[in-house]
Amino acid sequence: MDLGIKGKVALVTASSTGIGKAVAEALAEEGCNLAICSRTKEVLIETARDIKNKFHIEPFWGVCDLNQHKDIENFYDAVKNHFGKVDILINNCGGPIPGFFRDLSEDDWDNAFKQVLLSVVRFSNLVVPKMIEQEWGRIVNITSIAVKQPVHNLMLSNSLRAGVTGFAKSLSNEFGNKNITVNNVAPGYTLTHRLYELAVNRAKTSGKSHEEILVEMAKDVPMNRLGGPEEIAAMVVFLASQKASYITGTTIQVDGGSTRAIF
Ligand SMILES: NC(=O)c1ccc[n+]([C@@H]2O[C@H](COP(=O)([O-])OP(=O)(O)OC[C@H]3O[C@@H](n4cnc5c(N)ncnc54)[C@H](OP(=O)(O)O)[C@@H]3O)[C@@H](O)[C@H]2O)c1
Repeated sequence: MDLGIKGKVALVTASSTGIGKAVAEALAEEGCNLAICSRTKEVLIETARDIKNKFHIEPFWGVCDLNQHKDIENFYDAVKNHFGKVDILINNCGGPIPGFFRDLSEDDWDNAFKQVLLSVVRFSNLVVPKMIEQEWGRIVNITSIAVKQPVHNLMLSNSLRAGVTGFAKSLSNEFGNKNITVNNVAPGYTLTHRLYELAVNRAKTSGKSHEEILVEMAKDVPMNRLGGPEEIAAMVVFLASQKASYITGTTIQVDGGSTRAIF
């Protein structure tokens, strides 16, 4: 299926590894012009090289810490100078630290707020004016199944992803008439460095190894396995595409069925 986004400019945040990288690769496969960012220059260079080798496009990359407003502005300006505009914005971020309510400090809340919610607001603020002008735009936020069903020991994610969901719905209401769609993809257990870290963290208090924790996570999924980042990316890219032109204001979970609720 031709998704109709060849030549569009796509900016994917937090995209040097894991789900963000898989989304960048899937957009490259569709022929998008790509801008990627994260905090670690060496990893970004490697990721950009991988993408170039696989898809024969040269991603534009930049170091950008999503917790820093100035970094976001600088990266956006650099992308605009390079490509002229952003048609597709994919808001991904690093996962907030695990913890129950009493484990978390004021700084933990502040950092997670900046990265998970405020970075989405800031990037959206930068790209929306041009999307309005050209009457075409796609924004897809990567959240978590935590928005449907809070996850054990992930207080920050459970709280702040809900904020992203409310923001996205409000934005979709405001700019639907400008042909800008805003949606969220909520991954379930997906085999990346983040999931590995969460398993290591749970192992510390459970008396089990992190390998056993990963097996337990997989058993908890009706499909009886963990997801791959490319399975999340497939939905993100569809929502970013021309074919998803009448889908907006929604959250779609990609979780092998692990969310137990009907809605
Ligand atoms: N994996 C899962 O099972 C799962 C499930 C539900 C939701 N999610 C969510 O999906 C998102 C992506 O997860 P993932 O599993 O792909 O994680 P990952 O493999 O750990 O990748 C995280 C990416 O974010 C970048 N990053 C981290 N902190 C950043 C910051 N402050 N500024 C800019 N970039 C930053 C990392 O690069 P640098 O460290 O170099 O900056 C890396 O490229 C996370 O928000 C996670 O909570 C994941």
